[in-house]
Amino acid sequence: MIRFFFDGRPIEAYPGESVAAALRAAGILALRRSPREGSPRGSFCWMGLCQECTVVADGVRRPACRLEVAGGMVVSSGAVP
Ligand code: FES
Repeated sequence: MIRFFFDGRPIEAYPGESVAAALRAAGILALRRSPREGSPRGSFCWMGLCQECTVVADGVRRPACRLEVAGGMVVSSGAVP
């Protein structure tokens, strides 16, 4: 298993798994908040098109459904830099 961090919480994942899949398996469905209304947003298309799953991973904005987990990766739902 690989361990990464989402908003400071340690998450266990299988090698090759996407960040979105690992977070869903951990029971985390809301990956960010919408900028206007602050409503929770999560994975929708699962193929990199809708951008609803966008997170900040090691300082870079990425779609979580297309991002493979890496040991020690720091993922945030926070404001995009
Ligand atoms: S779920 Fe649509 S881009 Fe990730």
